[in-house]
Amino acid sequence: MQTVVFQSQAIVLILFMKFSLALAGLMTLLPASILATLPFGLAGPQGTVLFLNGFHFVSGPFEDTDYEVSANHYCVIIRDDMLQCVVYNTATTPAHLAGVEYIITEDAFATLDYEERQLWHSHSYEVTSGFLIEPGLPSPVDHTIMKDVLVNTYGKTIHTWRYDQKDALYPVGVPELVMGFTHDDQITPDFVLERDDLFGSNTTEIRKSRQDIVPNDVLPGADSWKYGYALSFGIVNKTIHTEFSSSSSEQGPK
Ligand SMILES: *[C@@H]1O[C@H](CO)[C@@H](O)[C@H](O)[C@H]1NC(C)=O
Ligand SMILES: *[C@@H]1O[C@H](CO)[C@@H](O)[C@H](O)[C@H]1NC(C)=O
Repeated sequence: MQTVVFQSQAIVLILFMKFSLALAGLMTLLPASILATLPFGLAGPQGTVLFLNGFHFVSGPFEDTDYEVSANHYCVIIRDDMLQCVVYNTATTPAHLAGVEYIITEDAFATLDYEERQLWHSHSYEVTSGFLIEPGLPSPVDHTIMKDVLVNTYGKTIHTWRYDQKDALYPVGVPELVMGFTHDDQITPDFVLERDDLFGSNTTEIRKSRQDIVPNDVLPGADSWKYGYALSFGIVNKTIHTEFSSSSSEQGPK
């Protein structure tokens, strides 16, 4: 498992050095100007600097605890206030591409309007609970990244392979908004144990190692389900008249 985590130990070392150098501000330790000079640049997934495993649930109440997803995130740095991650399921080989997660700093989140904020979830509990892990990273490195980079960030996560279609041959249906857990007693404990088995991690110990991390209060709007809003997407289907419809021999689906 560890072998897939990073392409080389060198990247871990670079990350560690960068993250250790300047712990003053969130992600400001990896400004774009420095990144641009790094071999992986600012391109696609080959720029992955973080591998995270964590849990998502489909936006809505917890009544159906089946709707828990163990998600592997491969994250690149877009700017000093934003990461972007491709998210894979853990249950399939090859892993299904589950969706994407954008991660922004607290300051960035504070600029969003109230309705936009409702599409985002907080990360503070994911960090302090030990649910969000970095398989393969040494504990001190993990601690630094969690405390100085991730704990006060917010994520917007959209799964293109819906949970209720997880066994389907193809990723059918409308993408869905997913959220992160915010409190003990929400996730099924066995689900965490299964994850730990898979990665050889111990969430109890990881949680202990992060006891000194004190998150800021979650800003209003995030984790919208706690206000009683279950947000989901739908298709907007408008009747329109296109120029080609009259000249085309295609009649559309029967
Ligand atoms: C995880 O760590 C805790 C605390 O150190 C320990 O009690 C528990 O047995 C460990 N679990 C496993 C599966 O090793
Ligand atoms: C959009 O609406 C048209 C007309 O009712 C219908 O024939 C078509 O199947 C709809 N498409 C979708 C994706 O709902």
